[in-house]
Amino acid sequence: MSVLIGPMSAADAVRCSELEHLLFDFDDPWSPAAFLEALAAGHRYLSAWEGDSLVGYVGLACGGREAEIHALAVDPAYQRRGIGRALLRAALDHTAGATVFLEVRTDNEPAIQLYRSEGFEVIGIRRGYYQASGADAFTMRRVACS
Ligand SMILES: CC(C)(COP(=O)(O)OP(=O)(O)OC[C@H]1O[C@@H](n2cnc3c(N)ncnc32)[C@H](O)[C@@H]1OP(=O)(O)O)[C@@H](O)C(=O)NCCC(=O)NCCS
Repeated sequence: MSVLIGPMSAADAVRCSELEHLLFDFDDPWSPAAFLEALAAGHRYLSAWEGDSLVGYVGLACGGREAEIHALAVDPAYQRRGIGRALLRAALDHTAGATVFLEVRTDNEPAIQLYRSEGFEVIGIRRGYYQASGADAFTMRRVACS
């Protein structure tokens, strides 16, 4: 079955929060209310669906010449099938001319590899960025294509 990517709706918030708990339980997983707040703020959040199942999501905030990836996640049962890359590209499609930033745990090799392969580079480290676990984050940046 193929995966469809489209705008996240308010009805997706509960399932996205479930995935947050599955994937980020040690690092302050987002509640449904946090997703609803991001949607209300007008950020670009997308969901990936396989049939009736929401299998991943990405969140991006864009403010003119700078944008920030807030979230990217794929259900473990659906990982390594190109969904993470497809979500990231769909979000980045709408950042023409903007420099994109993100934070990622320094030990998150799969995500770091994905981001590097899509043009992001490490520009700094933030010690103890993740308050719940105390883990460090890399700040990564993708310079705007001219
Ligand atoms: C990071 C994540 C979104 C990738 O999603 P995915 O659908 O599995 O990724 P894809 O199948 O599109 O793979 C894209 C690239 O990611 C990298 N990658 C993904 N999983 C990997 C793994 N287990 N080990 C090493 N590299 C990996 C590879 O570079 C891969 O490219 P390749 O298939 O050409 O080798 C997914 O692993 C995830 O949800 N992780 C938990 C949440 C998370 O850490 N999010 C990022 C927070 S900043």
